[in-house]
Amino acid sequence: MLNGALWLDDRGRHINAHGGGILEHRGVFYWYGEHKGPGVNGKLAYDGVRMYASQDLQKWQDCGIVLQVNNTPGHPVCAGCRIERPKVIYCEKSGKFVMYFHSSNLEHRIAKRGLAIADDPAGPFTFISAERPNAGFLPLNAGTVEPGSYLPEHLMRNGEYEELKNSNFYLRDFAGGQMARDMNLFVDSDGKAFHIYASEHNSTLHIAELTDDYLYWSGRYVRVLPDRWNEGEALFTYRNKYYLLASGCTGWRPNAARSAVADSVMGEYTMLGNPCRGAGAEITFGGQSSAVFRAGDTYVAMFDLWNDQNFIDSRYCWLPVKFTGDGFEIHYQEKFEL
Ligand code: DGJ
Repeated sequence: MLNGALWLDDRGRHINAHGGGILEHRGVFYWYGEHKGPGVNGKLAYDGVRMYASQDLQKWQDCGIVLQVNNTPGHPVCAGCRIERPKVIYCEKSGKFVMYFHSSNLEHRIAKRGLAIADDPAGPFTFISAERPNAGFLPLNAGTVEPGSYLPEHLMRNGEYEELKNSNFYLRDFAGGQMARDMNLFVDSDGKAFHIYASEHNSTLHIAELTDDYLYWSGRYVRVLPDRWNEGEALFTYRNKYYLLASGCTGWRPNAARSAVADSVMGEYTMLGNPCRGAGAEITFGGQSSAVFRAGDTYVAMFDLWNDQNFIDSRYCWLPVKFTGDGFEIHYQEKFEL
């Protein structure tokens, strides 16, 4: 698969699974992602979450829409809503496949976690709820919040600025639950699962522990890299260290990736800078991080090459993660192969 070229499925059609992630289950890789449509409005969900299956990460079988939108206006998964960054994990205890996604509307103001579950990786996934995480719980590392010192220029213009200037968002959202936009899931070696989401208007990531059935938050969560404006976040572990890969917040336009490391899953995380190396590293080779998954001994970083004029034509770039002892690097290569 050539990075940036059309990636064709078993029917010869460009794979349509953006902002996605991979679940490996019983020797099969399942790639779940946003089914995007044509044009600028193709960012909205008119189909749902699509899934492809593969045994070798090269040949992909189209398994269709596994979470379908409905025709009930105002419903969290109605046609024309936003379903972004779907991620699926398998819960050994319940035998269920659990999908989290960013549930929102055209205006992008809902900032909820959508939840859907299935008995089979191929679905169908049943929508359960759209909620904000951790209502009624304070972060474990609650402390003084500094007003937005890293506030990106473009956010000052989009109407959220008055709210953003006041900071203290997690206190404001204490009762109703924390904002959750870009998101990912992580299952540790002991089976504990964590939800990582861009919160507080995207200014700060949260890492939240999940209940044993993976369906809800336990109430234990931390604020991570406050005021650093990270999106497209992925969490993975290697040799007892926990790593974060993320993008900055510039909409669909590429920016420099960031990385961070911690000794335990809930941190404290230390920034490591841009892990990308090679021509185009300063804009993540034109992409935005979506997930990091493991295939045998190889860790693969998935990036979306967004086309914000014709979303269905957004492409992919998958690159191996190279661990360096105190961090990791991602070197550009033309082809994705293991
Ligand atoms: C960047 C996020 O990473 C995407 O998932 C999407 O929400 C866009 N912003 C919308 O502008």
